[in-house]
Amino acid sequence: MTGNDVAAGCRPAVLTLVEYVAGKTVEEVRRELHIDDIVKLSSNENAWGPSPRVLEAIAGMLPRLGTYPERSFHELKEAIADANGVAADTVCVGHGSETIIQLIPQLCVRPGDEVVVADVTFGRYEEASKLMDGRIVRVPLADWRHDLEAMAAAVTGRTRLMWICNPNNPTGTVVPRERAAAFLETIPRHVAVVFDQAYFEFVDDPEYGDGLDFLKAGFDNVIVLRTFSKAYGLAGLRLGYGIAAPPVRRLLDTIKEPFNLNRLSVIAGPAALADQDWMRRCVAETRDGRAFLSRELRDMGLTVVPSQANFVLFDSGRDGDALFERLLRRGVIVRPASGWGLDTWIRVSVGTREQNERFLAALREEIG
Ligand SMILES: Cc1ncc(COP(=O)(O)O)c(C=O)c1O
Repeated sequence: MTGNDVAAGCRPAVLTLVEYVAGKTVEEVRRELHIDDIVKLSSNENAWGPSPRVLEAIAGMLPRLGTYPERSFHELKEAIADANGVAADTVCVGHGSETIIQLIPQLCVRPGDEVVVADVTFGRYEEASKLMDGRIVRVPLADWRHDLEAMAAAVTGRTRLMWICNPNNPTGTVVPRERAAAFLETIPRHVAVVFDQAYFEFVDDPEYGDGLDFLKAGFDNVIVLRTFSKAYGLAGLRLGYGIAAPPVRRLLDTIKEPFNLNRLSVIAGPAALADQDWMRRCVAETRDGRAFLSRELRDMGLTVVPSQANFVLFDSGRDGDALFERLLRRGVIVRPASGWGLDTWIRVSVGTREQNERFLAALREEIG
């Protein structure tokens, strides 16, 4: 088969998109390199996985997989609302916060509208916005953080949407509360400002600007995104949520697919939230591992961006793609940052102590 009239005639916006490059999986490396003992530190997952209580809840739901879930997701939304101190009519859910990232531009970006993003951030914001024919306005980070003042200055009469990844993937940096508050004061209220907080549970910076505080304080153009994929160890299940002013939340729920969660996610969410001890232990271990990795990398003479997330970005001082390949042959999967234009940088997720040490040992073998 060669040409295809359907593909050739697709919407031009589709042709501008870049397919998502996921971190390599253990299965792929096993298949390609015939290595059995593999440590995956490339997708910012939780090395300890979900709470045993979640697994129990899922097992109890298996006999009911023959029927659709309840469409209102009432109990799940109530549990999320309680955990976040908000009303249930502000909560929307989806199979991964990724799907809500996809919905937001569908809600507010018309052809030619401007969408403001950082130049080094989670790539899905741009792709989801471009699909709606949004015009991307990229603002460089300043000292590895979102430059909120420059982002505010980039707002024009055509701006409809702004994305703030907080903590930012791949840098792990956060926006401070006071600067975020001053920033929001300057943004017109018809411009949606998304705080993607996929990693917020790992933050220990007291100055952290939590988007939810701003939404609660009356900035009703703020949309907060959170996920069960990271601190709750449920990346494989796919469960994320958004919190937004009720009129925005209603529209998000209107345009989503009707059954955008399966019965297992619906039961897993409340069970995960009910076991805060498990989540806190994962977070505590992750923070320790983050400090350990950062210290060891600095001791090797490498530049490390101070991280508030469950990963660390560092400058290897050599070609990052080549180093990634060499680490792969040693059974360690990391994420080269060349896709962000950081050709010598590597992002490594925090794993268990053993995994972190395995990564460091492989790195030392490679770069001395
Ligand atoms: C910043 C950020 N937002 C959203 C997501 C998507 O997470 P989810 O698994 O909830 O779709 C990721 C995944 O890595 C992420 O890094």
